Amino acid sequence: MTTQQNLTRIQLSINDEQRTVDVEPRWLLSDVLRHELGLTGTHVGCEQGVCGACTVLVNGQPQRSCLMFAVSAQGSEIRTIEAATPVEGLSPLQAAFEKHHALQCGFCTPAMVLTAEALLKMNPNPTEQEVRVALSGNICRCTGYQFIVDAVLEAAEAYRRVSSTTQREGQ
Ligand code: FES
Ligand code: FES
Repeated sequence: MTTQQNLTRIQLSINDEQRTVDVEPRWLLSDVLRHELGLTGTHVGCEQGVCGACTVLVNGQPQRSCLMFAVSAQGSEIRTIEAATPVEGLSPLQAAFEKHHALQCGFCTPAMVLTAEALLKMNPNPTEQEVRVALSGNICRCTGYQFIVDAVLEAAEAYRRVSSTTQREGQ
């Protein structure tokens, strides 16, 4: 639906909440998340698809939000870093990042965490190489990557433990 000033109304599921936003067709998803919806945990670095800092999950897949027009996201399910922290505290992934000092300035971290989440959902038992490949589109200027990889591998183990306990309890 087109409204005044060439705005197009779109509907998105953002962090499990239905949101309606009026956007210009040229607006990027990253800008709409940050400026229209106040979700500033999505960071913008290069604005040209290189650094990966703006990555969010669109229908479960990592997507550089600076390379996607918001109108193209119509009807999609979007997950941003704001949804990654459970009410009871840090997620296993976040706790592992903290434990392994996998962040310094934190600029790349929201995108790293979301990309790792998507990986672990698809592949709960990744090798170090698979973690490195999954994160290869995310640039970190601070950590040298090893601590991030260590954190993701430890979180994978934690998620596997939780899932096998849940399965045992369900038997
Ligand atoms: S800000 Fe989107 S990839 Fe760098
Ligand atoms: S922690 Fe600074 S860019 Fe990754």
